[in-house]
Amino acid sequence: MNNAIKNQEDSVLSLSGISRIYTQGDNKIDVLKNIDLNVNRGEIISLIGSSGSGKSSLLHIAGLLEQPDAGDITINGVKFSKMKDQDRTISRRHSIGFIYQFHHLLSDFSAIDNIIIPMMIAGQDKSYSQERAMMLLSKLGLEDRKDHLPSQLSGGEQQRVSIARAIANKPDLLLADEPTGNLDSKTADIVFEQFISLVRQENMSVLLATHNIKLSEKSDRVISIQNGELEEN
Ligand SMILES: Nc1ncnc2c1ncn2[C@@H]1O[C@H](COP(=O)(O)OP(=O)(O)O)[C@@H](O)[C@H]1O
Ligand SMILES: [Mg+2]
Repeated sequence: MNNAIKNQEDSVLSLSGISRIYTQGDNKIDVLKNIDLNVNRGEIISLIGSSGSGKSSLLHIAGLLEQPDAGDITINGVKFSKMKDQDRTISRRHSIGFIYQFHHLLSDFSAIDNIIIPMMIAGQDKSYSQERAMMLLSKLGLEDRKDHLPSQLSGGEQQRVSIARAIANKPDLLLADEPTGNLDSKTADIVFEQFISLVRQENMSVLLATHNIKLSEKSDRVISIQNGELEEN
């Protein structure tokens, strides 16, 4: 297929002219300067940059959690810039999955329930949700941990559960903000490998912030962010 046509048809996320300025007193920080970025279906993109370079800011804007000062966000062909907060929340729930550095699991619920609950909220039936949660847990090597509470899981296991939870509703776009940043390097390697393998099986699109250059090399494209601008590596 012609690349230009493919790009248009298969775009899951498109950012166009995104700018973000933070003001603190008299101080203005141009965190994102007129940024354009396209993520195609099935594509895994790593965003690398030093701490404070704007990775989280870009992910929050792409994930409709924050508004940019300028620019448009298009997810699956739907432009979001001028949407009301309520509509953004509904779209976010359907289209976007988040994985954070710290897991944010519900501490009173088991591993499997942490995955099932967002599926039930999205209106899935119970037996399908249980089956899919179990399938995801077993692909991540956690079948025998399904009834454990988050506090009874290791850091790597907790992070695997939060990966399964983010993937459970088959979002079009997965946004991962330093998903293995809180793990020791050996565990980070394993969890990262499983994460990439799972999102490839599910044909998901991923925008992943990391400052681990070695891990970023497993993605399809690596983009660096510096001084508010993106550069293809
Ligand atoms: N709400 C905010 N108000 C003011 N400055 C902020 C805010 N959020 C982030 N910043 C600043 O914007 C810059 C980019 O932050 P961030 O996107 O968190 O970077 P990264 O995720 O790459 O570490 C930093 O200098 C940070 O201090
Ligand atoms: Mg960050």
